[in-house]
Amino acid sequence: MPPAPDDRPAETPERSDPAYATNPAVAPVGDRRPVGGGASPANAAAPPPSAGNPSSAGEYLDSLLQAKSELFRTTKEVLRDSYVPSRLPHREQQVRQVAEILAPALKGDLPSNLLIYGKIGTGKTAVVAQVRQEILRRTELAEHISFVSINCGNIDTPYSLLQTIGNTFAKNEADRVPTGWSLDRVQAGMRRLMDSKGGIVLLILDEIDRLVARSGDGVLYTLSQLNTELETARVVLVGISNDLKFTNQLDARVRSRLNEEKILFPPYDALQLQDILRERAREAFRDGVVDPGVVERCAAYAALENGDARRALALLRLSAEMADRDHAKRITADHVVKAKNRLEQDIIIECVRTLPPHCKVLLYAILQSYERRRNGVLTGEVYEGYKRLAERLGLQPLHARSISNYVSELESLGLIRATIVSRGRGGRTREIIVDVPISETMPALEEDPLIAPVGRPKSRGQMLLTNFDNPGRTGPF
Ligand SMILES: Nc1ncnc2c1ncn2[C@@H]1O[C@H](COP(=O)(O)OP(=O)(O)OP(=O)(O)O)[C@@H](O)[C@H]1O
Ligand SMILES: [Mg+2]
Repeated sequence: MPPAPDDRPAETPERSDPAYATNPAVAPVGDRRPVGGGASPANAAAPPPSAGNPSSAGEYLDSLLQAKSELFRTTKEVLRDSYVPSRLPHREQQVRQVAEILAPALKGDLPSNLLIYGKIGTGKTAVVAQVRQEILRRTELAEHISFVSINCGNIDTPYSLLQTIGNTFAKNEADRVPTGWSLDRVQAGMRRLMDSKGGIVLLILDEIDRLVARSGDGVLYTLSQLNTELETARVVLVGISNDLKFTNQLDARVRSRLNEEKILFPPYDALQLQDILRERAREAFRDGVVDPGVVERCAAYAALENGDARRALALLRLSAEMADRDHAKRITADHVVKAKNRLEQDIIIECVRTLPPHCKVLLYAILQSYERRRNGVLTGEVYEGYKRLAERLGLQPLHARSISNYVSELESLGLIRATIVSRGRGGRTREIIVDVPISETMPALEEDPLIAPVGRPKSRGQMLLTNFDNPGRTGPF
């Protein structure tokens, strides 16, 4: 039986845009990992700038927009995850390896499939994005090359993965693979769309391990044998994983096809993180505004967190935002301390925001039950709550097995704890306890247009607080 299709297109507009596949200016799919970058309490709570005395909302906004930061050179973009820096210190070797493996595509030859492993924030996505930019910059040679970047962390089912890949090549609405087709038809539709463009498709599957943990390796088998069925297109798989043991879960055939080449990204140490931060700080901040010790502290903290460069950069950016909020002329060690506390909270919120659609509905159902009971909730009850919510939202509920995998995933992300309880003759089940502050997590979910229709009405306070750092996002932060 085909997996239950999702009634809602799984891809973001960015990914459904054909330009996304080929436009080097488009940044890679944002990472789902917590970065502390989603909310910006600093700016949301900022008092009006001292210049002028704005009295209306419009004047207030204008004055905020005109106010120049004493700290940042231009925008904060340089410190964001979506920014692809031109240089990646301490990743020269990996850049060279990835480039060497993919370069044959420029000569029209089919590169080997590639698997990239490394812990969170070790530069995997950034390195691939940089090589992709360089390949696409050679416009004439790259005419026959398409890049499709998918973050599997945001995709619920193999069905939505294949549909998303196919639709990347759709030239117009009528060309798209709609929701509702059988899985076989979606696969055929995807192949037709790929063949309509032809050439070499470099299919980057980021967070591929999460896809396999959720739905097994069947879809990877399908993708790895596409070349035997395609007519004018040829596919190269570039898998990115932060689970080093992930290939153990794969069928031997899939493993050998995916593993043609592999590259390991080791974690950064504190000194390497300092170099990365210094380089970004030079681009992001005006001269002399970063106090001695700030970079070192941010790097030391992130080195303890498995050498995660994202964490280091998020801490530096939040420290600068804290300083901005204080109207300080320099970023000091005190700002880093404040930022670190804030970052821990933001990590949870960002993690929740980037869950795939059905996982968000599940978490919302868990939070609802938990809020009512203030006590552990059993998985059966959670599944019923999820099904009710999904139906109210017009989604075809996933099977209990997929939801059970999502419960494990939410647990491994540290959002819930699930303990096995014995129910006598009733067998064993899991009891779920929520491990995040409900008062912050529910509004973060309700912010999503997917959940909003079943969300609680917003309180006045929540509606008034707007996150100026993320236009289009509002929330009680
Ligand atoms: N060597 C580097 N130089 C400059 N910036 C870096 C470097 N390595 C990583 N970064 C930055 O750190 C952040 C995290 O890197 P990236 O997203 O590539 O990590 P990742 O290994 O893909 O992590 P995950 O497994 O969580 O997806 C990005 O903003 C990236 O630009
Ligand atoms: Mg990544």
